[in-house]
Amino acid sequence: MLTTTMSSSTPTQESFEAYSRGRSAACQPQPHYQDLVHVLDAIVWRADTATLQITYVSERAKTILGYPLSQWRQPHFQETHLHPEDRLKVLACYREAIRDGENHRLDYRMTAADGREVWFHDCIHAIKVGTRKELIGVMVDITDRKAAEACLIEMTGRLIRAQEEERSRIARELHDDFNQRLALLAIGLQRLEHTIQSEIGVAAQVSDLYHMTQEIASDVHRLSHQLHPAKLQHLGLVPAIKGLCRELSEQYGAEIDFVHRNVPNPITQESALCIFRVAQEALSNTVKHSGVKNGKLELFVDRGVLHLCVSDSGAGFDLQAISAKGRLGLVSMQERVRAAGGTISVESRPSTGTRISVHLAA
Ligand SMILES: Nc1ncnc2c1ncn2[C@@H]1O[C@H](COP(=O)(O)OP(=O)(O)OP(=O)(O)O)[C@@H](O)[C@H]1O
Ligand SMILES: [Mg+2]
Repeated sequence: MLTTTMSSSTPTQESFEAYSRGRSAACQPQPHYQDLVHVLDAIVWRADTATLQITYVSERAKTILGYPLSQWRQPHFQETHLHPEDRLKVLACYREAIRDGENHRLDYRMTAADGREVWFHDCIHAIKVGTRKELIGVMVDITDRKAAEACLIEMTGRLIRAQEEERSRIARELHDDFNQRLALLAIGLQRLEHTIQSEIGVAAQVSDLYHMTQEIASDVHRLSHQLHPAKLQHLGLVPAIKGLCRELSEQYGAEIDFVHRNVPNPITQESALCIFRVAQEALSNTVKHSGVKNGKLELFVDRGVLHLCVSDSGAGFDLQAISAKGRLGLVSMQERVRAAGGTISVESRPSTGTRISVHLAA
């Protein structure tokens, strides 16, 4: 795939400057640059900054979008063929480029003559043409890349769902079968302990076995809850996170300050599970790696968006330096949030603590 960069001193722009000095030639770049423009697998365009009317567009526009070049030069052509969801973003970017004279890049969709949606990566720059300004842009067709990205996100989502189903199956087995059988074993041992009180030493051994069995049973019980947070389904996100904080406090003596506001119950199952899993991993990282025992977890909903922030003021780490090899936590958090359609940021620096923020539709 072609990636094109422009700066204010690139030959391409000089060609446009030269072209604009001798503008008579019906908006065409100089011949030697014209060849260059024609071999580019991209649409090169320029537009008047006052009206945004296209003043030049390269031949490749015809094959990529299917409109005759004359149609591009009609007033508001580009605006009216932009995808409605991208129109404001694109116009704002054009305005910004006109204002600051910097290079700008953005991805957006246009509708082709046959109704297809075509994704472009556009590099935009404003140049001076005498006393006027013009916008120039190079649009690269990235439709295939966007389709591959969407496919990857869809596949990740399916893998995460399959993993959750498998976890839930194992958790059910552990809870319904192993845990119950261990509980029966413990009761049997307790009975035996009572019936052989007289046998010196034997009762004490049986008592030890009974306590060991009980310990195993409660570990299996906890594991089944970690694998599949039944509380999340039955009671909702806030009680499930409260339970998580309590478990961490009982197991590791961690003190998590959990603050929540406006979290409705229920929220979509996918969002709730995603937030729960991120909180679980982020808090486990705090306990394992931060070197401090306390952290903060904030959860609130604002205008239909769920915000989660897990922070600690511990050791922190260098994001660039950690290798993902063999480590799943941070990567799987990011993949989960992406598959659920949200955004995540990880801020951390050695000695300044760590902060993980997630924004997701409630
Ligand atoms: N809150 C934190 N404080 C300090 N370091 C952290 C924190 N969170 C993550 N890290 C660092 O980032 C690394 C990667 O974290 P990640 O969760 O991906 O892997 P892991 O916890 O080591 O293993 P896994 O999660 O796969 O069991 C950790 O090994 C640790 O060095
Ligand atoms: Mg981890």
